[in-house]
Amino acid sequence: MTENSSLLAEFPTCPRDTNDRPRVFPSASGAYVTDESGFRWIDFDNARGSILLGHGDPDVAEAVARAATGAAGTATGWSPRVDAVLERLHALCGGEVVGLFRSGTAAVRAAVLAVREATGRPLLLSAGYHGYDPMWYPSGTPLEPNADGVVDFFFDLGLLAELLRAPERVAAVVVSPDHMHLSPAWYRELRRLCSRAGVVLVADEVKVGLRYGAGLSTAELLAPDVWVVAKGMANGHAVSAVGGPRALLRPLKEVSFTSFFEPTILAAADAVLRRVATGEPQRAVREAGERFLRHARKALGDASLPVEIAGDGTFFQFVPATEELEDAFYRAANAEGLLFYAGDNQGVSAAFDDAVLTDAEQRFTRVCGRLSAYAGTAPVDEEARYRVAWNVMDGLREADRDRGTTEALLARLLDD
Ligand SMILES: Cc1ncc(COP(=O)(O)O)c(C=O)c1O
Repeated sequence: MTENSSLLAEFPTCPRDTNDRPRVFPSASGAYVTDESGFRWIDFDNARGSILLGHGDPDVAEAVARAATGAAGTATGWSPRVDAVLERLHALCGGEVVGLFRSGTAAVRAAVLAVREATGRPLLLSAGYHGYDPMWYPSGTPLEPNADGVVDFFFDLGLLAELLRAPERVAAVVVSPDHMHLSPAWYRELRRLCSRAGVVLVADEVKVGLRYGAGLSTAELLAPDVWVVAKGMANGHAVSAVGGPRALLRPLKEVSFTSFFEPTILAAADAVLRRVATGEPQRAVREAGERFLRHARKALGDASLPVEIAGDGTFFQFVPATEELEDAFYRAANAEGLLFYAGDNQGVSAAFDDAVLTDAEQRFTRVCGRLSAYAGTAPVDEEARYRVAWNVMDGLREADRDRGTTEALLARLLDD
């Protein structure tokens, strides 16, 4: 199944071997996925952070199986499940109205286009990944809008302040929060800039929403006008949601799609939202992740390996000193069956119990053993921190820098 021989037109993000061939996992259970040879991997990728409860969670599986029999609503029309899911989302994330979609990409696009129509203003000031839609491709020239009226400020609040000097043209600022490379002070300043300019703030919480706690991860820091969540709401099932003021989201009245009432998806969302509303799965994830991190940091230190770890137990990212060490690190992890999301954020699931964690810790110690050639090599520097952060946030990590440094960093990182 090489790129040239695959029937699939897309090249989806997923674990791949060194030849870029997708790894095939015929089965999965809890924290483990099993490949075609029968080898069991511990999954830190979890469908890019969508599998919060673990693979094949029995509660969700039971709800989905029942819905598949036709006993819990129909794809043809409205069912009580629609109202249940909307009410749960409203209770957790707020908003006067809530819209439902199938993917994060579709929901964010619909949200910002609705705000643009409602405000009658042309520009969107954006930071972070918002999905595969070409509308988000940066223009060739920093601070210039692309053909879709989107200007990327790459999480640099100095650039944002410049762009907000003409707020009457700005429909919204849309950011994808990252809690590994941005501090609470960054969000407070972002909120201040938007409020002062009188500009709508959209939080694309597709990845982080409902994962850090029972609601939006930036509810207090940003109090976003419009929010989008997805990965935290259905343990990998295809659903996403938008919420906000009725006046700003009125254009969503035009939205309908054939699978809107599909009952297995609504059943999954209902079951997962009931669980995440307790905050319990998020606590389990955080604690399991913290325990793994304590072990990983010690094992890296004991082996004198220049690899930092950004973030916390909820989401974390390895920061190796060089790209060469980074390649070697993920190769060694693959050999030991630790399925990391290469170069990106790692996310454990609530299925990481004591036995899984002990297994993961032993495997990680062996990963460090495989990297002895890099023991005592040059430490992680600012360049490495910016490079790795860019991989996960499509922008610049928070750090003191002047305008010249920002421009030089953007020139280099956009070019890579
Ligand atoms: C912040 C953010 N926004 C939007 C998306 C797009 O979501 P999807 O892949 O479900 O279309 C992602 C996906 O990773 C994301 O992390």
